[in-house]
Amino acid sequence: MLLDTLQRPLGNLRLSVTDRCNLRCQYCMPEADYVWLPRQDILHFEEIDRIVDAFVALGVERVRLTGGEPLLRRDLPILVERLARKTGIRDLAMTTNGVLLAPVAADLARAGLHRITVSLDTLHRDRFVRLARFDELARVRAGIDRAAAIFPGLKIDTVVIRGVNDDEIVTMLEFARERGAEVRFIEYMDVGGATHWSLDQVVSRGEILDRLSAHFGPIVRVDEGSTAPADRFCLADGTVFGVIASTTAPFCRTCDRSRLTADGMYYLCLYATRGLDLRAPLRSGADTAALADIVARAWQARDDRGAEARLALRERAPLISLNSLKRDPHLEMHTRGG
Ligand code: GTP
Ligand code: 5AD
Ligand code: SF4
Repeated sequence: MLLDTLQRPLGNLRLSVTDRCNLRCQYCMPEADYVWLPRQDILHFEEIDRIVDAFVALGVERVRLTGGEPLLRRDLPILVERLARKTGIRDLAMTTNGVLLAPVAADLARAGLHRITVSLDTLHRDRFVRLARFDELARVRAGIDRAAAIFPGLKIDTVVIRGVNDDEIVTMLEFARERGAEVRFIEYMDVGGATHWSLDQVVSRGEILDRLSAHFGPIVRVDEGSTAPADRFCLADGTVFGVIASTTAPFCRTCDRSRLTADGMYYLCLYATRGLDLRAPLRSGADTAALADIVARAWQARDDRGAEARLALRERAPLISLNSLKRDPHLEMHTRGG
């Protein structure tokens, strides 16, 4: 098994299929304008296919399509179909903002997608507009309802921000429960792109659990070892939910993830400032074995513990300056797929 310097296996690939997004969530894309990846650099499906083969050859069994917003990528079900054919991939999932989901959910399921996670931070229309800059709550809700009817185990990701949506923790859980979905509350993270981040806006896992137990009563931890990034919990009525405590209790020790941007840059950590260009070797003819070799060498040298390193800092401010983000869009959360 391929292990990094901290004995972590390479198990999970997050595949960004576009850096574009049709929302502007304030914790991810708060700025007025962005520098996009050059169009000619975006990998074609056939190229993505070849890179994924290299990862599968190295033991990756879980692939998640991300963006930007993955549903902005034309003909996405065709890519899903190609990936679903690979017997090495046990788990093929997608994280979406849900805006464009309702009309394509059935096509995605037919193409072989296993699981969907939809991001949703508020149930108030005016607040949604303030948070994501577009009046799209109705379409997101339609996407969630459609996906809940088609896919088993729908998840809803809610980033909790103090003073913005932290009064909705109880209602978001109820909303998910009514739809048979599992909500995961995410601590606000100081990733690249989160240029408005501040520590006082982070609502910690402890505080989230306190608020939920004040309303719902006792909460027990569901123990199952390998479920990073979410810690999972259960209410007395059996409702299961998750908390992703990447800011106050990072899971770097067991992180088996890596990410590929839409233009073929490979990152070993969400917080990594440097990536490895896989597009160049790919476009100069490297085959699966050669690509796998490049990835294997990078993974074996991996010592990244990005979120833990952030936690150890005494003074915390946004990770990357606006100027640096403009110079290199690869540093943006929306380019590397969350
Ligand atoms: P499953 O566990 O497969 O259901 O999916 P997931 O939780 O990995 O995927 P999702 O896209 O829903 O991510 C949920 C949250 O976890 C997002 O806020 C991500 O930014 C955060 N996250 C994902 N990958 C990493 C990572 O490598 N490091 C850290 N610190 N956070 C991550
Ligand atoms: N902190 C926490 N989560 C974030 N995401 C994007 N930016 C941040 C941030 N600054 C989440 C999105 C989505 C996932 C892919 O990443 O809400 O659920
Ligand atoms: Fe929001 Fe996701 Fe778009 Fe970022 S990429 S603005 S988190 S919907």
